[in-house]
Amino acid sequence: MSFLKLSHLEKSFGASHVVRNFNLEVERGEFISLLGPSGCGKTTVLRMVAGFEKPDVGSISIAGKDVTALGVRRRDIGMVFQAYALFPNLTVAQNVGFGLKVQGTARSEISARVQEMLALIGLPDKADRYPYQLSGGQQQRVALARALAPRPKVLLLDEPLSALDAKIRVSLRNEIREIQKALGITTIFVTHDQEEALSLSDRVVVMHKGVADQIGTPFEVYNAPATRFVAGFVGTLNTLEAEVIDAATGTVALGAQRLVLDRPLPPGPVTLGLRPEMLHMEGGPAYLTGRVMASDFLGSVVRVRVDVAGQILALDQFNSTRRAPPRVGEELRFGLNPSDVLVIAPAG
Ligand SMILES: Nc1ncnc2c1ncn2[C@@H]1O[C@H](COP(=O)(O)OP(=O)(O)OP(=O)(O)O)[C@@H](O)[C@H]1O
Ligand SMILES: [Mg+2]
Repeated sequence: MSFLKLSHLEKSFGASHVVRNFNLEVERGEFISLLGPSGCGKTTVLRMVAGFEKPDVGSISIAGKDVTALGVRRRDIGMVFQAYALFPNLTVAQNVGFGLKVQGTARSEISARVQEMLALIGLPDKADRYPYQLSGGQQQRVALARALAPRPKVLLLDEPLSALDAKIRVSLRNEIREIQKALGITTIFVTHDQEEALSLSDRVVVMHKGVADQIGTPFEVYNAPATRFVAGFVGTLNTLEAEVIDAATGTVALGAQRLVLDRPLPPGPVTLGLRPEMLHMEGGPAYLTGRVMASDFLGSVVRVRVDVAGQILALDQFNSTRRAPPRVGEELRFGLNPSDVLVIAPAG
């Protein structure tokens, strides 16, 4: 049985229906990301799990117990927010020990746990500092330690990295993942950064307008997007409008060019999705030809833009010393594997 279960959650604020029929089952120790654009309802889902918002419909259970009617304090949840939410007038040690103090834990135990948590986040010597004396990354680590100190059953992280600069973001996100694994704590992480979600998560929930469009491993969500929205939001995707001219073999026309997709497709217009890295300058088995519109040498990668029958495709190729980058204006024949071509459902 799943450890954290969200069933049929619905939430409206006034006339706006913010979360719709939201279902999610999380295994013990799993790291799940809620990924989606601003305003899609990620924080609202998290706040319902924490108990700050009450769902209009639906239920939430943790470790087999229905917690839908329980208050925040009684859910055993640790939460870290986007903005630095440390108590400015308390030291690092007092911040980390805060939840334990509220619970009435003995002082000696609090101080032992605080030391343990500060070691875990790599700040054992900062116990007596105040938040203003720490960098943004250090403050977020303290916020994490504060959330973890009472040993919650579930950890909720709402864009904890978004206020940090790019380099710190990457190192801290890896650190968070290592701590999460070491503790084996069931975690929901909210982000609108697809790279963050893909690189960290066991599974990703891609949200769009309050709905979980797709729940799957990063590999599944990227390679087999369930909706047009997921296909476009997760990763870079070229879309091509084509015409199915032979339904049985899935042969499509792109201007005068033909591509056999080897799968039955309804005749008529179709939208195809192609990842830039699936298009190769060498090798097929299928081929398309286009005119090079731009060719940018970025070092490890050459990013080429090609006009195929009036539509622009981006190709990302690894640099090779044995091959000069294509030149603008030249005709480029490039290969692809028909099974890599996504057929995108009409916008829903
Ligand atoms: N307490 C509230 N009262 C009224 N509307 C709210 C409230 N909380 C959220 N909303 C609205 O619900 C929608 C979803 O908000 P939510 O904060 O869940 O989005 P989000 O996915 O977390 O976005 P972001 O990435 O910007 O944080 C938004 O349109 C927001 O304005
Ligand atoms: Mg939010």
